[in-house]
Amino acid sequence: MSEVNFNITANDKAGRYEQLLEQIKPCIEGETYEVSLLANVSAALKEVFGFFWVGFYLVKDKQLILGPFQGSMACSTIKYGKGVCGTTWKKNTTQVVPDVDLFPGHIACSSLSRSEIVVPLAVQGEVKGVLDIDSDQLATFDDTDKLYLERLVSLIVKTIYV
Ligand code: SME
Repeated sequence: MSEVNFNITANDKAGRYEQLLEQIKPCIEGETYEVSLLANVSAALKEVFGFFWVGFYLVKDKQLILGPFQGSMACSTIKYGKGVCGTTWKKNTTQVVPDVDLFPGHIACSSLSRSEIVVPLAVQGEVKGVLDIDSDQLATFDDTDKLYLERLVSLIVKTIYV
């Protein structure tokens, strides 16, 4: 990715995602390296939406390991089926968690995290990693986030894993 200045003018969430996706698509498709791509996507999501924590966990050695992220230091490994991230890996479906205290086994990397969305990065049913976004407010994420983040992840997966 070369230098990118996003021009995000929409006031609503769907509009902001539309603009971000349109502007980041060529940058994603032009990237070759996994770490560089995931680092820049984390930065873009943090910049445009101001999320509390944005990052990736990647499947390695039969666990999830912390990948590129924006935010405070986080847990470096997560086991299969554990927490929101490990559950996303096990189920291979997006988890939208309006209140992390109500999610059985939620892993609190930060006590300030209140709600969360985790999207799997999967190729033909094999999960390669997850995109994890945390908010310091309750119920930040809904079907709009799910829709656009799944589109974003699909672009990433096509570029670096297919
Ligand atoms: N809350 C996650 C752990 C990762 S941190 O939020 C960065 C979970 O329950 O899997």
